[in-house]
Amino acid sequence: MTLSSQSADLDWTDNGQPLSRLFDDVYFSRESGLEETRHVFLQHNQLTERWAKLPADAHFTIGETGFGTGLNFLCAWQLWQQTAPATAHLHFVSCEKYPLTAADLARALHLWPELNPLSHQLIEQYQVISPGWQHFSFAQGRVTLTLLIGDVLDTLPQLDVGHGIDAWFLDGFAPAKNPDMWQPALYQQLARLAAPGCSLATFTSVGEVRRGLQAVGFAMRKTRGFGRKRDMLCGELVERPATHWQAPWFSRPPQQACGQARSVIVIGAGLAGCSTAYALSLRGWHVTLIDRHNTLAAEASGNPQGILYCKLSAHATSLSRFVLSAYSFSLRLLHQQLPQGDASWQSCGVLQLPSNPKEQQRQSALASLGLPADLLQAVDADAASSLAGIPIEHAGLWFPAAGWVNPPALCQHLAMQPNITLKLHTEAIGLQQTAPGWQVLDQANNCLAAATDAVLCTAADTRQFTQTRHLPLKAIRGQITHLPATSQSLGLRTVLCADGYISPARNGEHHLGASFRFDRLDSQPSPEENLSNLDLLDGLATSLSSFWPQARSHSSGLKARASLRCTSPDYLPLIGPVADAEQLLSCYAELGKDASKQPTTPAPWLKGLWVNCAHGSRGLISAPLSGELIAAYLSGEPAPLPNDLLAALHPNRFLLRDLVRGKRQPPAKPTQPS
Ligand SMILES: Cc1cc2nc3c(=O)[nH]c(=O)nc-3n(C[C@H](O)[C@H](O)[C@H](O)COP(=O)(O)OP(=O)(O)OC[C@H]3O[C@@H](n4cnc5c(N)ncnc54)[C@H](O)[C@@H]3O)c2cc1C
Ligand SMILES: C[S@@+](CC[C@H](N)C(=O)[O-])C[C@H]1O[C@@H](n2cnc3c(N)ncnc32)[C@H](O)[C@@H]1O
Repeated sequence: MTLSSQSADLDWTDNGQPLSRLFDDVYFSRESGLEETRHVFLQHNQLTERWAKLPADAHFTIGETGFGTGLNFLCAWQLWQQTAPATAHLHFVSCEKYPLTAADLARALHLWPELNPLSHQLIEQYQVISPGWQHFSFAQGRVTLTLLIGDVLDTLPQLDVGHGIDAWFLDGFAPAKNPDMWQPALYQQLARLAAPGCSLATFTSVGEVRRGLQAVGFAMRKTRGFGRKRDMLCGELVERPATHWQAPWFSRPPQQACGQARSVIVIGAGLAGCSTAYALSLRGWHVTLIDRHNTLAAEASGNPQGILYCKLSAHATSLSRFVLSAYSFSLRLLHQQLPQGDASWQSCGVLQLPSNPKEQQRQSALASLGLPADLLQAVDADAASSLAGIPIEHAGLWFPAAGWVNPPALCQHLAMQPNITLKLHTEAIGLQQTAPGWQVLDQANNCLAAATDAVLCTAADTRQFTQTRHLPLKAIRGQITHLPATSQSLGLRTVLCADGYISPARNGEHHLGASFRFDRLDSQPSPEENLSNLDLLDGLATSLSSFWPQARSHSSGLKARASLRCTSPDYLPLIGPVADAEQLLSCYAELGKDASKQPTTPAPWLKGLWVNCAHGSRGLISAPLSGELIAAYLSGEPAPLPNDLLAALHPNRFLLRDLVRGKRQPPAKPTQPS
């Protein structure tokens, strides 16, 4: 797996239509792309009729092969607006191997003025389309788009689809022009991912395609094609394919039936909790958001300025792939939801500068991948200096879309949804499972709140609950130092990151960070950590120290803020359902002897209990997408990340690893009385 992807290479006809040079084919009918989409994909999946009959909180998923210009997506969204209940939710999942550049997408969509109100929103969010999966939220959460960047034969097998695809748009260039895509392996995925009653429509009527679809269980028929095309194909899945073995410890716990009252308690109102509450509230859940402090974002998420620090490796590690998807999603959320300014956030760009030769190598390797320029660019010291507004001695990587965020402002915004009830100054001491769900208990075992589901967004304190005591979470103290802006420091226009970071001034102060301290877990600022933070300045730019000549001698007088990060042993967050740890170890004990076994016993889920924690030093990047992932799990929607990343983030991963490595034994069985 690599981190690279290739954009579509286009020609344009005289009347402004895009043509693929690689496939030598058109993106849509020369007669009318819009009418072709409506005829082939909307009408022959009977979407108008099906959507008019949906219950109020229904969820409908469309799957597409070949996103192209997004025309099919926009037409579906437009029809959804016109026909589906106002509280229902459309999720559109589309695969794309050669994404259009933002400029080409905008140019192509210009052809359809009638779609302008929607295409503007897509164009606005269609930025930083990096390799991996790209997630979008539109119309106050009523419409979700997940773009699987990559070859459809690689991406669809990685899709955890939730309740399933209700309608397939089988697009892609003509089978004769794109034979690699129209393969039995594709048809098998279309059937695997289908929900009961799934329909399918495609513009082609090629016999091999029809037979391929029939072979996997679709009943297909020929019908009148659009314009000059005599025929097309449409049909429904009538026979479900045999399912393959899936690791039960990573599969989804059974879902609540649609239409039941959906209530959830989210404990912890930092970035993870507010993002989770927000994502669930957009999907119609009634959320009670609890925190022990009397304000939101009072712990790690309370710094005045946090950095969108997109730290990547060139090696397509799980962490890098997660960070890439999450970074673009955070940017979309920020642009859509928070006006820029001192109070909230600033997309001022981030310069990542190497602090040692190994870092330099990492940066060069990344720069050589040909990643999109709106993600990152290599810059020499001169270019870095003119971007930063102060002299910079090193070449580095420039992330033009990144910047700083005031995390409390983001949390405030996310938590201000009408169906989120805040319960501040409320400490959760215990959790109790009941017949309908979960109760949160106080010191005296009184019930503070009850709901069908509960999500623990309590950082390292997640271990205080009996049910999640086994999770390997660690708290690491960190401190930031506030530096008053000076006439020289006001010249700093971007964030600088190396071993530490400094931000441009916000409300007359810069913020310099951050220390990592393993011997203290309090939140009292310390002068030593101010000093160690000041030591980081030279690694960013040597002129910086001269802006605050007195700072070192007054380190105890400098304003500072200390709090605790929460990390996991592999530095990835824990996002997903919780199982009973002891039962899980017993259930899959055989893996300790033979890791290749494929047990089928369902995992002993603590039904309705979820965690979202361990966001380490990058909560601004990881938390918003983590909220979407939790909401996808709870609502039965397609996951915004591929299966291997869901496993890499899964709270069960450490138990399984330990079991397989023989580090954890199943608990001894109680001896039976003779
Ligand atoms: C010094 C420092 C600098 C950082 N800089 C950056 C940066 O530049 N960029 C970046 O992206 N990230 C940065 N981070 C990391 C970022 O702050 C975290 O990843 C993020 O805040 C984690 O959010 P969270 O919601 O998981 O945790 P928290 O914000 O800690 O929220 C957990 C919440 O749970 C509540 N809680 C816990 N237990 C209970 C209970 N029993 N009952 C009720 N409530 C409870 C707490 O009160 C708290 O509000 C930094 C962190 C530190 C410490
Ligand atoms: C005819 S265009 C799709 C038009 C599109 N649905 C629209 O609304 O604009 C076909 C698309 O399929 C994509 N494609 C072709 N082969 C693919 C593959 N193997 N995996 C993923 N996408 C592929 C192409 O890059 C192209 O964008």
